[in-house]
Amino acid sequence: MSLLSGSAEEADEHTGKGLYLETYGCQMNMADSELILGSLAAHGYTPVESPEQAEVVLLNTCAIREHAEQRVAQRVRQLIAQRRDGLRVKIGLAGCMAQNHRDRLLESIPGLDFVVGPDGYRRLGELLAADEPVVDVKLDRRETYEDIAPRRGEGVRAWLTIMRGCDRRCTFCIVPSVRGRERSLPASVLLADLQRIAEQGYKEVILLGQTVNAYSHEGVDFGELLRRAASVEGIERIRYTSPHPADMNDSAIAALSETPKVSPYLHLPLQSGSDAVLTAMGRGHSVDEYRTLVCTLREAVPDLALSTDIIVGYPGESEADFEATSAFMEEMAYDHAFLFKYSRRDGTHAAKLAETVGEEEKGARLQRLIAEQEERSGRVNQATVGTVTEVLVESPAKRQKDWLAGKNPQFKTVVFEPAGARIGDIVSVRVEAAGPHTLRGKQVDSPKS
Ligand code: 5AD
Repeated sequence: MSLLSGSAEEADEHTGKGLYLETYGCQMNMADSELILGSLAAHGYTPVESPEQAEVVLLNTCAIREHAEQRVAQRVRQLIAQRRDGLRVKIGLAGCMAQNHRDRLLESIPGLDFVVGPDGYRRLGELLAADEPVVDVKLDRRETYEDIAPRRGEGVRAWLTIMRGCDRRCTFCIVPSVRGRERSLPASVLLADLQRIAEQGYKEVILLGQTVNAYSHEGVDFGELLRRAASVEGIERIRYTSPHPADMNDSAIAALSETPKVSPYLHLPLQSGSDAVLTAMGRGHSVDEYRTLVCTLREAVPDLALSTDIIVGYPGESEADFEATSAFMEEMAYDHAFLFKYSRRDGTHAAKLAETVGEEEKGARLQRLIAEQEERSGRVNQATVGTVTEVLVESPAKRQKDWLAGKNPQFKTVVFEPAGARIGDIVSVRVEAAGPHTLRGKQVDSPKS
C-alpha cells in the first residue's frame, strides 16, 4: 500500500481529523510543532502516526542550511506524488523554509496546499478550512503564542519557549529574516507554564529561544528568570539553548553558579576561532572576549560542560584562520561540537560575498575538525571514569538488555546497569568506561525521587 492511500476505515480509527506532522531542524521547531498540535487540537485535529491516517500532512521545516531545505523539498514532493487522487488530504509546509520561500513554494512545488510561517500558527485552523491553496507568512513581532497550550510529548523533558526571534545580524544567518524580531514572554506566564510542566510530571525543562539569554521582559532578565524557574517544585533540572556569547552577562553567570537546578552545561556557539572571521561574521565579540567569558564561567561553575557550533569555509576564511579555529577548540577543551560547512543563504549579508573556500576544501576542513573533536570528546569523557555522576533516567538502553539510559548534569548520555532505578528517577552512577559519545557505568545508590 502506498502512502496516503489508506482506506476510509483506517482514517476513522482515530477520533477527530488526523494530523501527521514531521519536524525538521532545531529544538525550537520541535517546540513549535507541539504548539501547532496544541493549536490545532481546538480545531478538532488529533496527531496520527503515519501519513496514511491523516487528513492533513504538515512538515515543520528548517532553512538554516541549503541541505535542510533540499531534504524537505524532496520529502514533500514524495508525499504529494503518493497522494491518491480523490482523497482530500492537504499537504503543507510550516516554519523557517516556508517563511523563507513564501508564495514561491506554491509554484515550485505543485500540489502543495498551504504554506505557513513561524508567526502564523494561530491561524492554521482557519487556513486548513480554505478551499484554495493558501500562504500565511506574515511576521508579527508581538506574536508569542503565550495563550496557546502546546501538546507536549511523553518523556522526562519538556521544552518551554521563553523568547522568539533574533535581533542580531550574524552575516551568515537566515534566522532573523525568517523568525523576525526578538520578543520575550512575560515571566508570570512562563512561571505558570513551568508549574503545569511540573504537575504533568516532567523533571527537566529546556528553556528555548533563538538567543535565549537575550530574554528580557518588564525588568526580568535571563538570570532572574533562571532563578525564578528554579523555585518551581518538581522541576529538577533546567537547561536552555541557545545563548549568544555577547549576551552572557553577570546576572546569567551568577544564576548558573548559584542555582543548583540549573545544569552545569552550556552550548556556547563560537563559529570561528579567528578574529578576522568573527568580525566578518558580525558576531559582536572577539576570540579573547570569548576566552575570558569561558574562564569566568569555568571559575563560577567548575564542573561546567561546554559545547559549541563552528562553521568552516566562511567567505575569506584562510588556512591560518582555520588553524586558529582548530587550536582554539583544543584550548577550550569542548565536550562536544556541532560542526558545519558554510552554506550560502540568499537574503543574508554573506550571500553577497564571493565564496573563497572550495567545496572540497570545506569538506576537508570539516573532516579534520570532526576527527579532532571526536578524539577530544573521548579524552574529556575518559577523565570522568571512576567518578560518580547523577543520571536522570529517561529510557531503556538501546543495546544493553535490562540496562537504562539517561543524561547526567553535563548532558552526557549515560548507559548503566540499574539497581532499582526507574524512568524519571535521578540516580547516582559510577562511571566505569567512556567513549566520545557515551559514558557507561553502574548505579551505586537506590532511587532518590
Ligand atoms: N551555513 C552553515 N552553518 C550555519 N549556521 C547558521 N547559519 C549557517 C550557514 N549559513 C550554523 C551556526 C549556528 C547553527 C545553529 O547553525 O553554527 O550556530
